[in-house]
Amino acid sequence: MARPLVYATPHSRAAGEHLARSLGAEFGRLAVRRFPDGESYVRLHTPPKDRDVIVVASLDDPDDKLIPLILLLSTARELGARQVGLVAPYLCYMRQDRRFHEGEAVSVRVMHALIGRYIDWIATVDPHLHRIHNLAEVYRVPAKVVHAAPAVAGWIASNVDKPLLIGPDEESEQWVSEVAQWADAPWVVLDKVRHDARNVEVSVPETEKHQGRRPVLVDDIISTGRTMIETTYHLRAAGMLPPICIGVHGLFAGEAILDLYHAGVEEVVTCDTVPHPSNRIAVAELLAEAVRELTA
Ligand code: R5P
Repeated sequence: MARPLVYATPHSRAAGEHLARSLGAEFGRLAVRRFPDGESYVRLHTPPKDRDVIVVASLDDPDDKLIPLILLLSTARELGARQVGLVAPYLCYMRQDRRFHEGEAVSVRVMHALIGRYIDWIATVDPHLHRIHNLAEVYRVPAKVVHAAPAVAGWIASNVDKPLLIGPDEESEQWVSEVAQWADAPWVVLDKVRHDARNVEVSVPETEKHQGRRPVLVDDIISTGRTMIETTYHLRAAGMLPPICIGVHGLFAGEAILDLYHAGVEEVVTCDTVPHPSNRIAVAELLAEAVRELTA
């Protein structure tokens, strides 16, 4: 039987090549571009017929990436792929999981139903699961979630002396507690109130007994950076050392990365789910392992 075939969208090429090497798969050639009027064009140069196809596409800035992805997935299937799996190191549209105000689109349901029509399985890293507790609630196909916690804890253990792990809100407890357990470090979780996309309030952390430790803020997503910036102000006012900010997925909307450094953080570190100069923590091998299990 032919080796599996990995295609990657342009932005995820490095992750796709890595995955193909790890799996002993072929890295497929394809073209993805835009017509002058903004429509997407996709062509599969390596034929997918009778192959097990794996598509690697990280979905930050999703509205630009979803149409080429749907064209890629559907064309692979139409041209005879035996099965088509999706590896989305960052999975978009996970936050609007209910109708908070009358008339709103519940985008989690709509977008994942759309993607789910074209795939046989999906693997991702720490999706933002809140009121939806399990990816199986939005995907009918087999879904595998990779947890970045052991990789994040490994990075902290090798790079930070006397860390104090801090989760900026109740939702972050799930990953902060897991990272803290792996890193064998103390941890606290704060209360956060988000007034709107760019206005965030966090509780003042109780830090007296942790003076002298290096605060390490851990969250799943860094988007505008406001959550970590507000927390940094409180920590600095309480006389704590400048914090290290770790995000599993660094989206960095607008000038977020500069805003974080201006706020006085020591360092911003992310996993390599979304390509960015702050990537220090590799999760590619954890994803390869998940794909092996899904395709075994
Ligand atoms: C919130 O629900 C997430 O876990 C993150 O705390 C949030 O996405 C961070 O966003 P921002 O960087 O815009 O404060």
